[in-house]
Amino acid sequence: MAEIKLPEVELNIYTPRNPVEVKVVENRIVTSESSPNFVRHITFDISGTDLVDRVRIGQSLGVLPPGEDERGRPHKLRLYSIASPTKGEGGKKHLVSTTVKRTIDEYKEKIYLGVASNYLADLKPGDPVKVTGPSGRRFLLPENAEDFNYIFFATGTGIAPFRGMIQELFEDTGLEKECVLIFGCPYRTDLLYSDYFEEMDENYPNFHYLKCISREDRRPDGTKHYVQSKLEDEKELLRPILDQPNTLIYICGLKGMQEGIYKELIHQGYTGYVEIRKKLPDNVYSMESSSFRRAVKPSARTFEEVY
Ligand code: A2P
Repeated sequence: MAEIKLPEVELNIYTPRNPVEVKVVENRIVTSESSPNFVRHITFDISGTDLVDRVRIGQSLGVLPPGEDERGRPHKLRLYSIASPTKGEGGKKHLVSTTVKRTIDEYKEKIYLGVASNYLADLKPGDPVKVTGPSGRRFLLPENAEDFNYIFFATGTGIAPFRGMIQELFEDTGLEKECVLIFGCPYRTDLLYSDYFEEMDENYPNFHYLKCISREDRRPDGTKHYVQSKLEDEKELLRPILDQPNTLIYICGLKGMQEGIYKELIHQGYTGYVEIRKKLPDNVYSMESSSFRRAVKPSARTFEEVY
């Protein structure tokens, strides 16, 4: 197997005490009109800052929302994954984009609006934003990216880094090996950047876009379509890729999804993607989350960013 050479990255050029101001250049909705969810693609102009040429796809930027929390302290920074390739949004190195979902929830019978996501979603082109970062030193594409096959698992806005990685792999690296994107969301109206991925799927025989819509259809056994269920339902495509020693797995999205993926990989007998630290029972699905998390860790071939 090829050695995985991760690029050296600079971290925290800007910190909460020393943030930098960037400007919004675009803020557009990416969920369909009929969706009850609001996800936006937001692009920042980082010209004139030390972030130019120093952010890589896979990393995140911190956003400092203005104002104070209920205790009168400045709001803490929130991390947002970069959605543009390392060369910049649309190939422009002064543009960096991210994918933001408005957090709207009910808590103790009151409506709760996520501070940073709603602040960002309301911004207009020209508005300034205080950012920090970059952060993240491992969830990156290898320098020798062309040596590997990729299986990307995303739920919801966890798609952000894979949008940029896929652009980078196909436009810049000229990937000839296999790349599979497995994306999960509740309804078809919540598919993100799907026109782009559908087009990629049509244009590149080595790119495969698999969708898992969890609340519309059921699998024949009555269970939901989750990203990990594709490991079972798309064995013909995935097994020959997963069997190769030069395949890497990337996981981004809901905390908890990695457990489902690791359990299914172990259940199917794959050994290279996880490190097993304690003896596992014959039926890995009988394990509680807490003991599973202690016993099973990602291996060098697996990259995860969950929140
Ligand atoms: P569901 O909520 O129907 O159980 P979003 O971030 O847009 O809400 O999408 C998250 C997607 O991930 C949903 O389809 C959700 O399904 C699904 N999901 C929830 N829990 C898990 C899990 N443990 N593993 C994989 N997917 C999950």
